[in-house]
Amino acid sequence: MRRSQILTLVGIGTLAGGIAAAVAVLLPWLPTPASREAGRIDFVFWFVTIICIVIFAIVAAVLLYAVVRFRAAPDDDTDGPPTHGHTGLEIVWTIIPTILVTAIGVVSAVVLAKDDHVGKNVLRVNVTAQQFVWSFSYPGAKNMQTGELRVPVNRSLLLTFTSKDVIHSFWVPEWGQKQDTVPGIHPTLHITPDRVGRYPVICTELCGLGHSVMRTYAIVMTQSAFDKWLHGQAAATTSGNPSTAGAAVFKNNGCGACHTLEAARSSATTGPDLDKLPQWAQQAKQPLESFIRSSIVDPNGYIQPGYPKNVMPETFKSMPEQQLDALVQYLIQSSKKG
Ligand code: CUA
Repeated sequence: MRRSQILTLVGIGTLAGGIAAAVAVLLPWLPTPASREAGRIDFVFWFVTIICIVIFAIVAAVLLYAVVRFRAAPDDDTDGPPTHGHTGLEIVWTIIPTILVTAIGVVSAVVLAKDDHVGKNVLRVNVTAQQFVWSFSYPGAKNMQTGELRVPVNRSLLLTFTSKDVIHSFWVPEWGQKQDTVPGIHPTLHITPDRVGRYPVICTELCGLGHSVMRTYAIVMTQSAFDKWLHGQAAATTSGNPSTAGAAVFKNNGCGACHTLEAARSSATTGPDLDKLPQWAQQAKQPLESFIRSSIVDPNGYIQPGYPKNVMPETFKSMPEQQLDALVQYLIQSSKKG
């Protein structure tokens, strides 16, 4: 091979590799990681991407060079000259891919093992999926139930999943992993959030008509802010004062996302107006307290005229008794005021 030919090949390869590298680096393919696990997964992604770009550059250079250099003349209908195998070349192009694929396998296995390693002082949170809501409960805080996931930064988090109906899938893009929630089994997912912030929780398995709205937030806080929140909430939801406790339960479970309640400054209209609860109870010919209670734990038992069935989630059935009582008392007080 002449020097000019080698220079041409290197030139084409550099150009092709440069374009591929620009596409890889300049487009935002992945969100900025917010967990140690996502950081490691990103490392595997870039490790594989760099290998791919180098191979692409070599193949593109040889291909483009051959297309131009060995092009047949327009009137040349003959077969090309016969060629024989090249043992040395074949050994090289077998050994190099074997090394690369083995390296990718080893790096992936190390990352998987590290990502699954649950650290000391783990925080356990139970995650319940149901068409079409996520709810979270904290076994370390009397199973306090919330509609948003709050967790401390830089601490092992072990999520245990339950599905009440179909297969859903838990996904926080910045945390880098997905976990299916399968009815009948309780899979777990280990995450170590490492960046304070508010991240979307997305259901990433088609689970019915409301699949696209089955979203909430994961809020990563400093350990001290988390402790303060957890103790504050645990104390509030179990305090003897129903308006404080009930207001906390109402807020934690995201009731205001669907219902109007002046006392909670919410004005959503997906579900019935809770300021008018006494009126609705009368309409249903039920005493106010038992009407409110059964509407929370068995929402499809009685449907408010003008509203569709199966919209109010049934996850609140599993709410600890004390929190449910507080919520009921709070709604009685607030709606009477309203
Ligand atoms: Cu739940 Cu999609």
